[in-house]
Amino acid sequence: MSPEHPPWWTRAVVYQVYPRSFQDSDGDGIGDLGGVLQRVDHLADLGVDVVWLSPVYPSPQADNGYDISDYTGVDPLFGTLEQLDDLVAALHGRGMKLVMDLVVNHTSDEHPWFVESRSSPDSPKRDWYWWRPPREGMAAGQPGAEPTNWHGFFSGPTWELDEASGEYYLHLFDRKQPDLNWENPEVRQAVYAMMRWWLDRGVDGFRMDVINLISKDVGPDGALQDGPALPGLPYGDATPSVVSGPRIHEFLQEMHREVFTGRREQLLLVGETPGVTVEDARLFTDPARGELDMVFQFEHVGLDFEGSKFRPRPLRMRDLKTSLGRWQTGLADVGWNSLYWDNHDQPRAVSRFGDDSARFRRDSATCLATLLHLHRGTPYVYQGEEFGMANAPFGGVEDFRDVESLNHFAQAVAHGEDPAEVLAALRRMSRDNARTPVQWDASPNAGFTTGTPWLPVNPDHVAWNAAAQRDDPTSVLAHHRRLIALRHDDPVVASGDFTMLLPEHDDVYAFTRALDGAALLVVCNLGPGTHDLAGLLPEARGAEVVLGNLPEDDPAVLRPWEARVLRPVR
Ligand code: NOJ
Repeated sequence: MSPEHPPWWTRAVVYQVYPRSFQDSDGDGIGDLGGVLQRVDHLADLGVDVVWLSPVYPSPQADNGYDISDYTGVDPLFGTLEQLDDLVAALHGRGMKLVMDLVVNHTSDEHPWFVESRSSPDSPKRDWYWWRPPREGMAAGQPGAEPTNWHGFFSGPTWELDEASGEYYLHLFDRKQPDLNWENPEVRQAVYAMMRWWLDRGVDGFRMDVINLISKDVGPDGALQDGPALPGLPYGDATPSVVSGPRIHEFLQEMHREVFTGRREQLLLVGETPGVTVEDARLFTDPARGELDMVFQFEHVGLDFEGSKFRPRPLRMRDLKTSLGRWQTGLADVGWNSLYWDNHDQPRAVSRFGDDSARFRRDSATCLATLLHLHRGTPYVYQGEEFGMANAPFGGVEDFRDVESLNHFAQAVAHGEDPAEVLAALRRMSRDNARTPVQWDASPNAGFTTGTPWLPVNPDHVAWNAAAQRDDPTSVLAHHRRLIALRHDDPVVASGDFTMLLPEHDDVYAFTRALDGAALLVVCNLGPGTHDLAGLLPEARGAEVVLGNLPEDDPAVLRPWEARVLRPVR
């Protein structure tokens, strides 16, 4: 990255639309492209630069569209390809870009490629997926006969038996999401052709779903290895064999050459990379290597649970600081960070990292946003986060829709866990928290649909909605507008170096950003106490407040959940 000409996305803010829950335009209770088109002005008003659209492709919806049965179409549930073209045009017309979700670690089991692959062991597409015989010495279907002991991301084994052939196919996620075999060059070429097709259609890049899982650690004889046993489960850990496997960089570089040559500058390429290390992220995002622009890492969203996300434990703010700080340092000279709290897979940030009580919801939402947007990296805003949407008050298991949550509940209860405890964990960590409909206004169903929403609207929409905040300069929404504008306007925010201050402090998260002699000091109080700012950071004295989330008061005191962006006196 040349310091004189930083890429456009260093100044950009990305907004994620999860279409199913964004806006319904036809009254069927499910959000759609017509709905996204209706809300383009909201995005323009917020000031974001890029929209990442979660999948709208034809799909049986086993995983809400992350199970794709046709890569070059739009599911009638969401609308038409023409509407997608209209959306590209509407966004481009307002100076925004559109990034598509690229889900190519797996397809749906209803994708014609898999249907063909499954049709016979002699199918020319058999090798497009991972087919394996039962474990040696065991019969197909016998407990433990799966080719490896791997535990799936959505519970249960990662192998499904195909009765007809007596072989198993690999699915790291749901059984309806068979993994593509990237070892096969035909698979890779088919994916690249599809990607070129989308770029030719006018889209501006890809958010690549679990892209660091596409290379599996496979022996020359096709052997896959068992993983280390997982405590309390009859399975082993698949991740050593599937996370950032031996050919991952080769595959991404090949993709780059085949798809992005000559058009890279205008695009945004962001990889979702669970389990990625800082060292790997440097390789993925070093511009000289031609792989990705940035990755989503998972460390900071893995600090409030033990092993599995459904074993939550209290978060220590200091751990959050240490982790994010390490990523800032790790990608300081090479590569680039994606910055996020929320997405469609995570509980709502204000409930998880902030305090969603009536007293502190606004202040903690704005404090967290300030912290995130002032880091070095590209911030991502997830629909509803811009006005402080919170976790939903789920009751019993029947309230949940997500395949991950439902499978986990069934497996945990079958293994003897207390259903009440499993439910408590689901309420905290379920992905459905992120998926309740966007709360546009205080009307019944929050302006999301005229029908019955596929997942109930959070009852707090009466007070917490976009319309109520639009003209309120003190709102979470207005604060996001200011943060986004600040990144556009101030090169220190976009490109400045990051230095963590007070690394040992439990609550006060403070850092500086500096560029060419200009500096910003950012102080965020991640808790309900007050702190002596002047004592902690003498350089804050006399500083100009560039942006704050609370009305100005005693500059020497940091109030609960207060965030300030300061320009120190020189
Ligand atoms: C990551 C996606 O963000 C998630 O929603 C999905 O379930 C899995 N990948 C599988 O595609």
